[in-house]
Formats: sequence, structure tokens, C-alpha cells
Amino acid sequence: MSAASIATAAYLVAALLFILSLAGLSKHETAKQGWVFGVAGMVIALAATIGLSVHDSSVRGTTALIVAVATVIGAVVGLWRARIVQMTGMPELIALLHSFVGLAAVLVGWASYVEVEDKGLGSFAGSLLRIHHAEVFIGIFIGAVTFTGSIVANLKLSARIKSAPLVLPGKNLLNLSALLAFAILTVVFVLHPALWSISAVTAVALLFGWHLVASIGGGDMPVVVSMLNSYSGWAAAASGFLLDNDLLIVTGALVGSSGAYLSYIMCQAMNRSFISVIAGGFGIEAPSGAGEGEYGEHRETSAEQTAELLAAASTVVITPGYGMAVAQAQYPVAELTRALRARGVDVRFGIHPVAGRLPGHMNVLLAEAKVPYDIVLEMDEINDDLAGTDVVLVIGANDTVNPAAAEDPSSPIAGMPVLRVWEAEHVVVFKRSMASGYAGVQNPLFYRENAAMLFGDAKTKVDEIVAALAAQPAVPVPA
Ligand code: TAP
Repeated sequence: MSAASIATAAYLVAALLFILSLAGLSKHETAKQGWVFGVAGMVIALAATIGLSVHDSSVRGTTALIVAVATVIGAVVGLWRARIVQMTGMPELIALLHSFVGLAAVLVGWASYVEVEDKGLGSFAGSLLRIHHAEVFIGIFIGAVTFTGSIVANLKLSARIKSAPLVLPGKNLLNLSALLAFAILTVVFVLHPALWSISAVTAVALLFGWHLVASIGGGDMPVVVSMLNSYSGWAAAASGFLLDNDLLIVTGALVGSSGAYLSYIMCQAMNRSFISVIAGGFGIEAPSGAGEGEYGEHRETSAEQTAELLAAASTVVITPGYGMAVAQAQYPVAELTRALRARGVDVRFGIHPVAGRLPGHMNVLLAEAKVPYDIVLEMDEINDDLAGTDVVLVIGANDTVNPAAAEDPSSPIAGMPVLRVWEAEHVVVFKRSMASGYAGVQNPLFYRENAAMLFGDAKTKVDEIVAALAAQPAVPVPA
């Protein structure tokens, strides 16, 4: 059997493992298994690619060595970053990784152009050559948009630049002009490939990617991150065509299509039009001027009072958000859940699809703290039960429980489905101040009659409640 057929068989196995991985990652119960499939697929894919390059007579020994050394360096840096990254830093790390895929696609496109220019037509003849030129152009365009777009996403998510949208005059016209320039340059390049046109499309795409993400508001960043995930997949697939690598094409298409589907689900969860979000049409934050005076006064509570409230409750719903991740409060939250359930209280979790800073953020944290999966419900599964709930604990969540989204058509997050926590009998909001959430919008929930603020770090406060609850008289569990 030749090295090429062994590599093809290995690629097929890797592609199947990636499909199984995606299927596994779609459910809590099978997520770990999905992860194992993904890692196994990638190990097989890397081994086959390195093995193939070693056996390829057109690849000189030093090139194969460079590939092997680069793989080892990449693996060491990747392992090191994965070990030190905080859960709260995951979204920006993911955005940075997308930018690498985009940059790789740009470099592959340029290398392929230079190679064909250098070696002449070679195996490319007539219309095949034109297809190759179109592939080069598309690969460079998608790659460059992904590269700069992901860098801006990384800077916004890590708060190194403002999450507020950049509003240039005629911004939609600028985006449309970039797309038009890409279309014209593609035709020009396919007919008369030249250095100036490939340089021009690279520059246009780099600026376009930057502007596209810079003009999207903070509230819409989740969709942007998953959209860039999709772009990075298509950029990888385009590189696969140029490198004649089937696995890269299949894997890129898997990432591209699953990312596009995820973006669609998130747009639905936020009641956004996908086209409008990627065109930067939504998410323009004009932070509401309404505040303490306009909404009334907020009330404060203490850990002891909250423990008393919980001890008297028979149904409790916990709605976590980004603040739970910041405080690393998932372990005491799991402990509180166990303590309440031991007292016979029905405790459940309500998870908003964009709670936190990346899809599934809260689910991962709760699973890490061993909260049983069956009490962790999606927003749609729990929303109708909130009206009959005794106590809702809003732990470090803000935008995802903001009644303005449902009630104020002028709010920047109007129309975004939210957890209707205000319908419960009592709501306790855990946060450190009256500051707004990620979307920069005031939250009228904090001023409602049935809501009380529990100020402080969420982990410290939940720890205090667990201690105070232990001092509360036990309530007999109903038979
Ligand atoms: P946010 O609206 O960001 O609110 C988090 C709240 O946690 C803040 O109000 C903050 O208030 C509080 N907090 C922070 N650190 C805390 C600590 N140590 N202890 C207690 N509270 C703390 O979070 P959310 O409700 O989860 O909403 C998610 C937002 O992020 C949405 O706007 C969403 O669109 C956006 N987003 C989501 C994603 C994905 S994919 N899920 C990606 C990017 C952006 P204080 O500062 O007063 O404590």
C-alpha cells in the first residue's frame, strides 16, 4: 500500500471522528466523548499529514523537518495556553485562534499564487488555471476578513478596545463597496493575474474584516464570534482546495457549516437578523439614560436574609451569567444547590443561550462543579415556570434577565428573548455594583418591588449563604 493511500484512509477515519465529535459535543452527556473523538481525529490527521510529507519525494527532508518541528512547537504553545487560560478568557482565545486560521489561509493563497507564477502553468491549463486563480482569490479574501475580524473580536472581548460599535459615516456603503471591489478584482485577477490585484484584494479584505467587526455592538458579539468560527472553517476549506488536501476541505466545510448553523441559532436566541448583524446594523448601543431616578430606588439584602428566604422556599431557580464565571462561583453554587435539595427544595437552573461570553459557557461551568444535568434547563424550558417560582437567584447575570428587552421597544436589546425572572415571587440579584452588563444597557429589574440586590463578589456571597443556611432550622422533607 502506498503512503498516499494510507494517508487517504487515515483522512477518512479522521473526518468520521470529527463528525462524531460534533455530534457528541451537541449534548452535555456526550460532550466528553465528543472531545475525545475530536482529539483522536486531529492526532490521526496530523500524523498522516506529517507522514505523507516525509514520504513525498517533492518535499525535501528539511521541509519535512520544519513541518515536524513547527507541529511540536505549536503543540507545546497550545498545551501551555490551554492550561493557563481562565474560563473567562476563553472567548478571546478562541477569537485569536480563528485569526490564525485566517492568516494561514492568506499565506496559503499567496504561496499558491507565487508557486504557479514561479513554475509556470505546470499541471494547470486553460480553464483549470482560471479556477485555481479564483480559489486563490476567494481563499485570500475569506482568510483576510477572518484574520482582522477575529483580531478586533479578540480586542473587544478582552476589553482592550471599547465594545461599543464604530460608526463611520456611510458604513453600509463602505461594506458594500468592499464587496463590489472584491467581485471586480476577482474577475480582473482571473483574466489577468497580477501582483497589484492580489495585493489590492488582500488590503481590501483586511480593512473590510476590521471594519465589519469594529462596527458591531457588544450585545451582538456572540453571533460575531460564531460567525468568525464559520468563516475560519470556509477559509480552511479554501486552503484545502489550494493544497489539494481532502481532509482540510471536509474539516473546513464541517467547521464552516456548523459555525453558520450556530450563528443562526444564536440570532434566533437574540431575535436578530443574521444579515443585519454581520452588516453591523444592530447592536448600536445608545446606553439608556434611565437610571436610579427614573426607575425608582433599589433595595439591598444580605446573605443571611437570602438564606432565610431560601429556607422558606419550596421552588428555587438559579440563573447564572458572566459574573458567576468571573467570580468562579460555580462550586459554592453547586454546594448551595445540594444543601437546598437536601432540605427538599426544588432547585433548577435557567440558562440563557448567550449567558456568559461563549456558547455553552454556563453549562460547562456547572458541569465542572458536578451540578446534575437534569436540573439545568434551557431558557425556553424554564421561562413559563418562573411565574410560579418562589425565589430566583440571579448570579452575575444582567443583560440576559433584563425586562427592557421584552418591554421597552427603544432599548438597544429590544426583542432579545430574556429569562423572565421578574415574574417570580422574589428575585435576588448577585453583583458588585449597579453597573450595566455587557451590552451597556441599564436594567430595570434591579428597581422592581420583588427584587433585592445582594452586593459583593458572587463566590463570597454564595459561600456566606451556604454557611447561613446551615444555621437555619431544617424543614422536614415531604414524603
Ligand atoms: P452580563 O450582561 O455581562 O452581566 C454580568 C454581570 O456580572 C455584570 O452586571 C457584573 O456586574 C456582574 N459581575 C461581574 N463580576 C462579578 C463578580 N465577581 N461577582 C458578582 N457579579 C459579578 O452577563 P450575562 O447576563 O451573562 O449576559 C451575557 C452578555 O454577554 C450578553 O450581552 C451577551 O450578548 C454578551 N456576550 C455573550 C457571548 C456568548 S456567546 N454567550 C459572547 C460575547 C458577549 P458588576 O460589575 O456590578 O459586578
